[in-house]
Amino acid sequence: MAPRKIIIDTDPGQDDAVALLLALASPEDLDVLGITAVAGNVPLPLTQRNTRIVCELSGRTDVPVFAGCDAPLVRALVTAEHVHGKTGLDGPPLAAPTIPLQEQHAVDFIVETLRNGPEGTVTLCPLGPLTNIATAFQKAPDIIPKVAEIVLMGGAYFEVGNITPAAEFNIYVDPEAADIVISSGAPIVMLPLDVTHKALTSKARVDAFRAFGTPVGDMTAAWTDFFERFDKEKYGAAGAPLHDPCVIAYLLDPTLFTGRHINVAVEITSELTLGMTVADWWRVTDRPPNALFIGDVDDAGFFALLTDRVARL
Ligand code: RIB
Ligand code: CA
Repeated sequence: MAPRKIIIDTDPGQDDAVALLLALASPEDLDVLGITAVAGNVPLPLTQRNTRIVCELSGRTDVPVFAGCDAPLVRALVTAEHVHGKTGLDGPPLAAPTIPLQEQHAVDFIVETLRNGPEGTVTLCPLGPLTNIATAFQKAPDIIPKVAEIVLMGGAYFEVGNITPAAEFNIYVDPEAADIVISSGAPIVMLPLDVTHKALTSKARVDAFRAFGTPVGDMTAAWTDFFERFDKEKYGAAGAPLHDPCVIAYLLDPTLFTGRHINVAVEITSELTLGMTVADWWRVTDRPPNALFIGDVDDAGFFALLTDRVARL
């Protein structure tokens, strides 16, 4: 079967970086048409820089990197240096990237790729705030029916919020963008905190990365170690939730995940619950299902896949 054509939209962040490595290590399954950076964990100049650094680390300098929106649709940017560090990829020192940033704006790349390709052939994989995707849909609504699927990391229901008591970070940063994307009518698979909090690293799992004895293995171990400290402190969890790699793992092996096709709506007015994803898990409303909301993962299978693939780089 031909590899699945995807565009990854990202705000690296250590967990985004591991997701990118997983995708770039899987060319027989995923044809990464381009990677688009968005402001999120850290401002855009850093997320586009970090994206290029990860591409170079993976050896996949053939994949074009684009810079997108530097602020949410209508709100001020909220970042997460407290989780990812000042650079967004804190951990071992990193050399400046040498691969170029594409001239074209990420939103125009997304519009052009979908508009010029056959219907239902390109999957969008957002790993950060949905600003780029929403802007593309607003600029060119004709591309929405051409999207094969949107497989995104974002939202929370039973797990509640991680940036406010009610909201998950990617949705909270740009709730208006999330509302546009989730209500767009495009087929959506959501990987919320409900599932990513079950994809936890452990010492053995991080040691497995280090055991590769490669620059990629060492960096993956260092990034997950750095990223883990925040969640350990906050949740007392033994291990870091690998949020964004769940998106790529879903593409590679959806049988690792289970969920329900339900209605998900985004709160965009209440200050108290802004960015909350109201998931009708028990189908108590007549709101039509609009997303496959993933609630569980075979975490051993997830880490076996991740370790096996990243070891290739
Ligand atoms: O809430 C987790 C999400 O926010 C992840 O995508 C992480 O990288 C941050 O963007
Ligand atoms: Ca992210």
